[in-house]
Amino acid sequence: MILVRRIPGILYTHKFTLYSAVLILFTCVYLLFKLNVFCVNLQAWSHVTKLCNLYESGLAVGSLCAPLCVTKDIHSLTCHSFEASKEAVFSAEWHDTRLVFKSVPRDIQAIHWFDNGIVKYPTEKEFLQTIRAIVKNKFNLTVAYDTAIRLSRLKPSYEEKNTFKRRREMDNLWLLLQDNEYVLSALFTDKDVFPQLLGTCGPYFAVEYLEPIPAMSSFLTLNDNIENWGKRLKLAVQILNLLDKLETKFREPFHLCDLKLEHFGLVKNQNTLKFIDLDGVLPKSVVNTIIKEVEYCKSDNDCDFIDCRSRCDTNSKCSNFVANDNLQIVCEKIFLGWRMANTILVPGLLISQHTPSELATLLRQCANPESEQGKPRTVPDSEIKTRLYSAISQIEQTVNNNFVL
Ligand SMILES: Nc1ncnc2c1ncn2[C@@H]1O[C@H](COP(=O)(O)OP(=O)(O)OP(=O)(O)O)[C@@H](O)[C@H]1O
Ligand SMILES: *[C@@H]1O[C@H](CO)[C@@H](O)[C@H](O)[C@H]1NC(C)=O
Repeated sequence: MILVRRIPGILYTHKFTLYSAVLILFTCVYLLFKLNVFCVNLQAWSHVTKLCNLYESGLAVGSLCAPLCVTKDIHSLTCHSFEASKEAVFSAEWHDTRLVFKSVPRDIQAIHWFDNGIVKYPTEKEFLQTIRAIVKNKFNLTVAYDTAIRLSRLKPSYEEKNTFKRRREMDNLWLLLQDNEYVLSALFTDKDVFPQLLGTCGPYFAVEYLEPIPAMSSFLTLNDNIENWGKRLKLAVQILNLLDKLETKFREPFHLCDLKLEHFGLVKNQNTLKFIDLDGVLPKSVVNTIIKEVEYCKSDNDCDFIDCRSRCDTNSKCSNFVANDNLQIVCEKIFLGWRMANTILVPGLLISQHTPSELATLLRQCANPESEQGKPRTVPDSEIKTRLYSAISQIEQTVNNNFVL
């Protein structure tokens, strides 16, 4: 009793300790959430439960519904980040394959409508036209008839004849087609640049799991030996190859407007590097359109779409074109690292004690070809590009041939 009465007094005299303790506790809890320790797999399971309810009521269809809800072949759910812009991201095992499930945004209007209480759906022809309009609108691409047909079905080579089932299929496809990532993965299955689409169920789709960059964190440690340097060089070569594919394999180049080392991933047991976060991956003309839409700018920074940068002209209008390119931003953010003014704060992938000075010079020229103050916004010219590509691949071969990885 006496002790209880003394508690306020004790708390008061130790208030500093108390405040610190509370602060530390909150920081710990915050960090646990931040590091996803708290993103317990329960969240992933609750998504699956909701999805399977939809499936049982007949609203969700797709190739992954049965393995997820009936046979339970898809198991070992692991949650990823939930504070991210996507509604849900979790991975799971299916036989020997690891899948990453993603859900489309929730607030999408349905494709059907009601006319005097009678449900209406677009005709097949209208549906195809709508699909082509979506792709045109998102990526400024005109898809061929066959491609539109493929996008209009959940099973590419199966035409659903049953009207009732076809309507369910349309409802589901409609939601999926609003998602950039779904559309890109479904459109460019043969380009080896984006994660492979493995299946869908209702408003969820699954893509192949990509391994995070090996020992990504160890690049930043003090473990700056030659073996580690060899690995970094190999990854740099893979990144340059991916940039080449983005530049040449499409009708117009794709820009990576949200560039981070974490957004790259490796196909298991292969040497292929792919890009994971497709929400910021857009064709050049679409990036130009986004930049042009900025009403008013005071400085160049106002014309940036994340890492896709442009300039503000004297009339306070943003330029019609994106000013930098993938190579520039990779040199700046990935190869050189985090910089403030002219000092490197966190060394990038290619900054090590082994970096030859010629390479360091080339990297600086690539990241900031015109030695601009502030954020650079110039495309490195073709000469720098050629010299950089050959320097990196040459050094990589020398280092890695002397050192069997
Ligand atoms: N195909 C994949 N393979 C492996 N991990 C993945 C894959 N897709 C997503 N992830 C993981 O889930 C995280 C979030 O996914 P994604 O990037 O698609 O969502 P987001 O909402 O755009 O997140 P953010 O913009 O914060 O990266 C990724 O950073 C990555 O760690
Ligand atoms: C779409 O692409 C075409 C061909 O590349 C181009 O001429 C056109 O200007 C682009 N449209 C938009 C709105 O960006």
